[in-house]
Amino acid sequence: MSRKPLVAANWKMNGSTAANAAWIESFLPRVGSLKCDVVVCSPAIYVPQLAAAFKGTVVGFGGEDVSEYDHGAYTGETAASMLVDIGAGWVLTGHSERRTYFGDTDARVAAKTKAAVEKGLKPIVCIGETLAEREAGKTIEVVERQVKAVMDAVGVKALLQGVLAYEPVWAIGTGKTATPAQAQEVHAAIRAFIAKTDPEVAAELRILYGGSVKPANAAELFSQPDIDGGLIGGAALKTDDFYKICAAA
Ligand code: PGA
Repeated sequence: MSRKPLVAANWKMNGSTAANAAWIESFLPRVGSLKCDVVVCSPAIYVPQLAAAFKGTVVGFGGEDVSEYDHGAYTGETAASMLVDIGAGWVLTGHSERRTYFGDTDARVAAKTKAAVEKGLKPIVCIGETLAEREAGKTIEVVERQVKAVMDAVGVKALLQGVLAYEPVWAIGTGKTATPAQAQEVHAAIRAFIAKTDPEVAAELRILYGGSVKPANAAELFSQPDIDGGLIGGAALKTDDFYKICAAA
């Protein structure tokens, strides 16, 4: 089974129309040489700018979060149908910053992923353990619990509509990357866990690694058998670094 690598940018709460335009102008002319799939996720307010730039190109794009609700009195939220309406194909769910700072529980992440899937978006479902959980030997238990919550909500086959991203919380934005062996171990465990329900889905599903991926460590991480690309935060803000990471996939 060969899985096409995917590299996704997570801009987080960064950007401006001017900075985004410069990013697009620098990156877009180079995508033709890349062999991986590329996705850019931005704050919802900038997704129309991504749509204007990337529609009709090979670059996928979308938001960083989505409401679990369909529409209605949910001030400040963005519905999956709204992302679809402006042309987005992708959305992050369950990013650890949402889980840590905004109270996204496993149940809410599952509901958000379900809302995204039902509207035809491709979710990038983020999972990962905290440092305390790793030190307590709970890494596999935690990621299995997080995967199970989503799988129970959407059904195992729907996982293939999107991808998973394993992001150890202690490696996000800290400069501390999981070693390729540490990451591979967890990716293999996630795949084995899904295989218990559906071996074909497990074999086909792309599992990205995220957490301080840089041009210097990308190739070694991406060469691991169960790592199918990356979710890139800090290094995705600089087009040269992001391009180099994509080129390593
Ligand atoms: P980082 O972020 O690359 O800055 O560690 C990754 C992420 O949060 O998706």
